[in-house]
Amino acid sequence: MSELRQRQPGISAERNSREAPVARRQKGGCADAAQSNGISILDILRVLATVVIASCGLSYYITNSESFLWGYRPWFTRWPVVKTYLTGPVNLTPAQLSLYNGSDPHLPIYLAVNGSIFDVSANPAIYGSGGSYNFFAGRDATRAFVTGCFQEDLTPDLIGAEERFIPVEDVEGEKITNAQKKIRREREMRLARTAVEQTVNRWESFFRNHKKYFQVGKVVDDGTEDPLKGKRALCEGAVQQRPKRSEMEEGKV
Ligand code: HEM
Repeated sequence: MSELRQRQPGISAERNSREAPVARRQKGGCADAAQSNGISILDILRVLATVVIASCGLSYYITNSESFLWGYRPWFTRWPVVKTYLTGPVNLTPAQLSLYNGSDPHLPIYLAVNGSIFDVSANPAIYGSGGSYNFFAGRDATRAFVTGCFQEDLTPDLIGAEERFIPVEDVEGEKITNAQKKIRREREMRLARTAVEQTVNRWESFFRNHKKYFQVGKVVDDGTEDPLKGKRALCEGAVQQRPKRSEMEEGKV
């Protein structure tokens, strides 16, 4: 009995020492389980961090130092955009806008399409002084975006620009009545106006969604009258681009 009593602690100590690792493993949870495989959470984080840093480095190298995120540049990583967001929109009259035409190196370069002003300073070779499209800088030349007449049409006035899309009547002796001609003319006028709208929208979206340009505000009216408004004839370059009736699908009246 006394022998038994004396051996009891020994047996339980032995059992405890055998059971202890099992119990510890059961209680230890994921961290210990991972550790028992030789991989800890810290190891996983280290590998992830290495992959992210390597990807950023490779992206920076491949995109010619332009992006750490394979071309993705959220707006909040572009300081000028953040600044505009914080300071609010820049609303300018045409006269104020004309100062941002690239001739003053201390000012950003702006251009406007359909009343929306965009900062295009990121491309001085195109819009800066002496640039190939410098004539668009410092103004709203929406009409020129439609007609392609870069000398005559540097104005926002779109009245009559739809003619650019109206077919030239170059077919002699068409066998249709005057009433049919009138209906056709009205339909083509509607289509032409839609084409102008689509062209303008396309250019506006081009600047709005461009990865280097961004919208800064709107052009505001200063009450100055445009004496030629609504009186502009279609410029010669645009006349040349008009579709010809004779080249249009036959039977489409
Ligand atoms: C309605 C007619 C046109 C409009 C409104 C227009 C407008 C523009 C604009 C806004 C840009 C600058 C794009 C940017 O910011 O990246 C551009 C670039 C360019 N456009 Fe046009 N364009 C027209 C017609 C043409 C034509 C017919 C040609 C060729 C003969 C042409 C050749 C170029 C070239 C080469 C560039 C690259 C800019 C450069 O390296 O200077 N464009 N165009």
